[in-house]
Amino acid sequence: MSQLFPGAVVEPVELAEAKGLVCIRTASASDVENLSVYFTGLSATSRNKRFSGARADPGAVAAECIAKSGGLDHFTLLAELREDGRGRIVGEARYAYDAAARHGEFAISVADAFQRNGVGLQMMTAMETLAIDLGHEMIAAETARTNAEMRGLARKAGFSDTGLGDWQSVHLAKRLSR
Ligand SMILES: CC(C)(COP(=O)(O)OP(=O)(O)OC[C@H]1O[C@@H](n2cnc3c(N)ncnc32)[C@H](O)[C@@H]1OP(=O)(O)O)[C@@H](O)C(=O)NCCC(=O)NCCS
Repeated sequence: MSQLFPGAVVEPVELAEAKGLVCIRTASASDVENLSVYFTGLSATSRNKRFSGARADPGAVAAECIAKSGGLDHFTLLAELREDGRGRIVGEARYAYDAAARHGEFAISVADAFQRNGVGLQMMTAMETLAIDLGHEMIAAETARTNAEMRGLARKAGFSDTGLGDWQSVHLAKRLSR
């Protein structure tokens, strides 16, 4: 995909004001510690939205994300900023396929300081690319009605409201095609 970022799933995101390039790649075992640092650095608001208000131990969640990455129906994507020859995680998306419901589901976050730069949308594109490669035909998501950024991101990525939500949550879905 990119000669600069060999593991990239989609084209890198160029941050505004030449702050650097963000590469989207799949996570591996060596990422657990950095992912834990990333989760710890999220603002309380973003962390609450990412984990739907549930309390989460960043180390345990990072280990779980990585353990479940790389299987046939699961993967974790990382958005990585290259700084001084080193990588810094600035976003993540976890995807899992629900065989009974016959659709993929995901959770996503972008570091507060890097939001609204197109990183979330590019991770969604990468997620869809990998899901299609796995033969999946549909991705669904549920988010709080009050989560304007997730609803906006999903809309921009082509998801529609299924109408199955309730007064608190919205159900969104997108049919995948090659
Ligand atoms: C949701 C989230 C991942 C979006 O990531 P992002 O990198 O900021 O998104 P992008 O920059 O790619 O934005 C793409 C589009 O989403 C919409 N969007 C993003 N942030 C928005 C906001 N605060 N309000 C309204 N729409 C927003 C816009 O349509 C935007 O396109 P535009 O910038 O051209 O208007 C990020 O806000 C986040 O991490 N939130 C906290 C965690 C969370 O809520 N996760 C979802 C539940 S798992």
